[in-house]
Amino acid sequence: MPCRSGRDSVSAGPSRRAALAGLAAALACSDVAGADSALVDVGGAFNLISHEGRRVGSRELLGRPYAIFFGFTHCPDVCPTALFELGLVLKDLGDAADALAPLFVTVDPARDTQEQLALYLSSFDPRIIGLTGTEDEILVAMRAFKVVARKVPLAAGDYTMEHTALMFLMDRRGRFFDKLDYRDEHAKQVAALRRLLALG
Ligand code: NI
Repeated sequence: MPCRSGRDSVSAGPSRRAALAGLAAALACSDVAGADSALVDVGGAFNLISHEGRRVGSRELLGRPYAIFFGFTHCPDVCPTALFELGLVLKDLGDAADALAPLFVTVDPARDTQEQLALYLSSFDPRIIGLTGTEDEILVAMRAFKVVARKVPLAAGDYTMEHTALMFLMDRRGRFFDKLDYRDEHAKQVAALRRLLALG
């Protein structure tokens, strides 16, 4: 969804806020272009750094299934909603979720430093791993997952990001398994992750 700046909603009155929320819902975060068959090719080499300062990339993740979602911490609606939902899904998975690496990759590395990610993620399930890197490292990861993001200027030099808001489920060999939308039914999301984790 076009993720609007928090600044907009702070200055906006209730009715304007409602209108903006409606607009955001209508525009909906752009989905990955192309047919589902193209998604089989999703995945590839990437190399980033976690909000705890650890190297996390396709190499480190080998042997561990993961769920990967791209977004940014200044996103006022879609990203926090998706991360909150992911937390609920992890909770429902129980101990089985320990085998999973839930990854949140920033598309806004200029603002989303390791420290900013750590601060932001403290509001969500502690198992979620934030990833950042240089602009080039982020672009490599985005290309691997066919994720698109676009900077949208706002007033006073501020900006927001439009970005692909799908979550990709990858098996322990780093191969595409399934994709989820944060608006998918909760039970469907839990079931998809259970299937992924059942692969071992
Ligand atoms: Ni977002």
